[in-house]
Amino acid sequence: MQDYHEFLDEILVTPERIAARVAELGAQISKDYQGEDLLVVCLLRGGITFTADLLRNMSIDPEVDCMSLTSYGVGHYATSGNVRVNLDLRTNIEGRHVLLVEDIVDSGRTLAHVLNMLHTREPASLRVCVLLDKKMRREVPVQVDYVGFDVPDKYVFGYGIDIDEHCRYLPFIASVNLNKYKKPG
Ligand code: IMP
Ligand code: MG
Repeated sequence: MQDYHEFLDEILVTPERIAARVAELGAQISKDYQGEDLLVVCLLRGGITFTADLLRNMSIDPEVDCMSLTSYGVGHYATSGNVRVNLDLRTNIEGRHVLLVEDIVDSGRTLAHVLNMLHTREPASLRVCVLLDKKMRREVPVQVDYVGFDVPDKYVFGYGIDIDEHCRYLPFIASVNLNKYKKPG
């Protein structure tokens, strides 16, 4: 894998801004679900870092489960709308308050699919928290209840978000210069 300095275009969100915003979101979610029995659902794998930090900024004690989906796309980050469940929840969500935590909402297809699927299981409530929202790319309307940051229409990486399965470890969120990026393999 190429050194990320070679293809980094711009740091969009610094670790300090991420920490501040995650603290605000954790406080808001704790307030909104005070006294309720909450189940946090982390969407693997991009949501791992965000979910871990969000949990540590909560003053409530939610249960946590994970789900993994694969979206098939054409090109670098277009989603075709075909979404498959690789790993389903272990928890029965019927009658539960569920908060889905996702890295990015782009076209909205992935979230629309998972929301439809989870609604059929009749949770008491179902809300969505995303770290990054690429609003201008939306093709399918989805209700997003908590948003970390709006980001421009650029491919981004870092803070759990990968570019070809790398760069998840980076503490900031950056955009890629696709002219300088060489796809591995
Ligand atoms: P959607 O179905 O088009 O909304 O795509 C959402 C999914 O695509 C996210 O869960 C991400 O995994 C992935 N994705 C979208 N944009 C980016 C990006 O800029 N970097 C890395 N992954 C992305
Ligand atoms: Mg994802």
